Amino acid sequence: MEKRTIVTMPGDGIGRVVLEETLRVLTAAGFEADYIEGDIGWEFWINEGEPLPQRTIDLIAKHKIALFGAITSKPKEAAFNELAPELKEKNLVYSSPIVNLRQHFNLDICLRPTKSYLGNPLNFIRRGAKGKIEEPAVDAAIFRQNTEGLYGGVEWSDPSAQVYDALMTHPKFVKNFGKTAKEELSVSTRIFTKNATERILRAAFEHAKKYNYPSVTLCEKPNVIRETSGMMYKMAQEIQKVDYPNIELWNTNIDAQMMWLTKNPENYGVIVAGNMFGDIVSDGFAGLIGGLGFAASAQMNPDSGIGVFEPTHGSAPKYADYEVSIVNPIAMIESACMMLDYIDEQTIAKKIRTAVAEVIAEGKVRTYDMMKMAGRPDVIKKGAASTQEMADAIIEKISEELKVKS
Ligand code: NAI
Ligand code: MG
Repeated sequence: MEKRTIVTMPGDGIGRVVLEETLRVLTAAGFEADYIEGDIGWEFWINEGEPLPQRTIDLIAKHKIALFGAITSKPKEAAFNELAPELKEKNLVYSSPIVNLRQHFNLDICLRPTKSYLGNPLNFIRRGAKGKIEEPAVDAAIFRQNTEGLYGGVEWSDPSAQVYDALMTHPKFVKNFGKTAKEELSVSTRIFTKNATERILRAAFEHAKKYNYPSVTLCEKPNVIRETSGMMYKMAQEIQKVDYPNIELWNTNIDAQMMWLTKNPENYGVIVAGNMFGDIVSDGFAGLIGGLGFAASAQMNPDSGIGVFEPTHGSAPKYADYEVSIVNPIAMIESACMMLDYIDEQTIAKKIRTAVAEVIAEGKVRTYDMMKMAGRPDVIKKGAASTQEMADAIIEKISEELKVKS
């Protein structure tokens, strides 16, 4: 088979170490690929004034599949102050390269799976009716619309007269805000298009069908946000009725969903939401399965086939310079498994996931987060595994699997 080329973007901070360890795991599992590093992140902002250089965009456009570690973002002023002196006159404004990547390639389908591993000490537990402690098996796949809605960036403070006049055509605006001076107003829009809404809904239903989930839950707020959430719910009902009659459509409100998150998380399968609510509900579910060390994600455009796979966590700068890295690489490794699923390398993905599951179930090798320690350099002395040791343990399990098979 032809060897693939994968674009690797370590980015900043711990992004590099989790990505490096993940590549070792991929190789051990027999995944053959050429890796080309793509520049992204803070260093390129400071030295070039562009955290997402065009050459990186070109690489992704060419090779289509990318693994991404994490980047560091800082507020506007802090970002400006760190720019190389010769770039300071250029009127550059920092904007997040990961958001730009999403917009540039229209990576509108974001999938964040949250599946608990047996034996993970960070799994959510609850008290059952008779006082017994229960540990429900969580397996929710959250589909988040990734490009529109509240994070679409269409917003103003002290809006122009045109915008203000347009708002004044809405009776509710006149009634509730019409007496507020224009300079006192900040407005962020929540725009949903039918096209993108249909794409995320269909991606969610397709996933449910492919992986045998009995239900898709729309997690929005259609009773209050009638136009956007309301449109999404209506479209979900139509799509379910026509194309997925065997999959149940559930409808929950984001606020209630977060309140009930810990009541019956095992009952939810596929969840679909707009950009912000998807962000919120996926973090909520990730908390039930171990948090940032376990939360993986994929950002995809089914039309172009471009997919960027990355852990949900950031660059954790305070851990970046430890002599021995302590962070958990599993979120990045899981993200790489999602990449393998995406490019039809399910057998290798399964091999890796089985190895991860075995290491976790065995409980001998645990990173500091799994031991509920505060992250400090001395966690290694106290028995926590380093990033590398966790990857080693996974690789060891993979080679045992391979031995059994051969
Ligand atoms: P963060 O996710 O980098 O770290 C928050 C805390 O979570 C860490 O201090 C650590 O305790 C824990 N943590 C994160 N990853 C872990 C891992 N693999 N294993 C064990 N523990 C882990 O978020 P924070 O501190 O809010 O942001 C740091 C920087 O990262 C900021 O500049 C932020 O803008 C950026 N960021 C980037 C993201 C991305 O690249 N997609 C996402 C979130 C934040
Ligand atoms: Mg988030």
